[in-house]
Amino acid sequence: MAPLKGLILSGGKGTRLRPITHTSAKQLVPVANRPVLFYGIQAMADAGIEEVGIIIAPETGPEIQEVAGDGSKFGVRITYIVQDEPAGLAHAVLTAEPFLGASPFVMYLGDNLLQGGIQELVSAFEANAPDALILLTPVDDPENFGVAELEDGAVVRLAEKPKEPRTNLALVGVYMFTAGIHDAARAIEPSPRGELEITDAIQHLVDTGKRVEPHVVRGWWKDTGRLADMLEANRLILDVIETRVEGTLTDSVVDGRVVIEEGATLVNATVRGPAVIGAGAHLEDCYVGPYSAIGEGCVVERAEVEHSILLAGSEVRGLDGRMESSLLGRNVKIGRSTRQPRAYRFMVGDNSEIEIL
Ligand code: DAU
Repeated sequence: MAPLKGLILSGGKGTRLRPITHTSAKQLVPVANRPVLFYGIQAMADAGIEEVGIIIAPETGPEIQEVAGDGSKFGVRITYIVQDEPAGLAHAVLTAEPFLGASPFVMYLGDNLLQGGIQELVSAFEANAPDALILLTPVDDPENFGVAELEDGAVVRLAEKPKEPRTNLALVGVYMFTAGIHDAARAIEPSPRGELEITDAIQHLVDTGKRVEPHVVRGWWKDTGRLADMLEANRLILDVIETRVEGTLTDSVVDGRVVIEEGATLVNATVRGPAVIGAGAHLEDCYVGPYSAIGEGCVVERAEVEHSILLAGSEVRGLDGRMESSLLGRNVKIGRSTRQPRAYRFMVGDNSEIEIL
């Protein structure tokens, strides 16, 4: 068998995390200060995959290329493949056909996070040699996912975001395919949302008598497309980070699982983990509480921040109340002005959400 390749889908439009993803790719939104995409690339590297193709969109692709590079920092070789329009996951597979050739491959949705990586699946795929292997997990809202129906442990029917799901088994965004998926992707028609669905292509495999093996995932899995999911993914990853303090601490206290990157400065600050503080961040007269990821070059001063994600360059200053369960984009500034009477003053982009509690 040709060596297994990897395909990561990082094209598409990040509409659900707007405005964060207005200007950048949703796959680059950080989880514990690392772009979510990196976890997928790392999972491939850990499973011994050497050739990884990354599907990119014309608009957000250059940024992804710049951040992930040629893959050498992960120990893989990355080939970037431009998909002109987000015409669906099966369309992305067809776009990658020249790269994939006859190789079997792991397909990983670039905004997904799967605990424990993919090694176990790769082993099952190699041992049982099915035509495709899909991952499933029970969810509370199956109508938001591809949904599978099993009979005697075999996949009988799949539906993409059905209004009335017949089971609660969602398709996780990690799949393994043999080259037969290309013909299946060519055989299907666009769905009601106008996309060539990978779910329909897999159904086509089932309908033509191919063997589609289901695996129910044991660890956690997150599709990071929404704010609540992002915060949860952040919590799950922060829960397993290893403490490392490389910044400078002055009159400051650091408790629990905390990473403080080089060049970060803490003055009269308390950080209670799990939390990560990015390189060059400055924390002064402040409290940063559990499940926070403070990005590179951020400033938190005279404020309390908990259970929040701050992207690079954001600043929070002089808040009376504690900021929590929040996601700030890049270079956002939140502060209290001393000049004005007590009033709110905002300059906020399209589709932002602000809650004053
Ligand atoms: O997260 C799991 C779900 O992912 C599955 O349960 C569904 O069956 C599957 O269709 C998919 O649903 P989504 O609607 O969440 O997919 P989304 O549009 O968010 O795209 C997933 C990733 O693939 C994302 O990183 C963007 C990328 N993508 C998407 C499209 C439509 C592409 O690279 N090209 C595309 O054409």
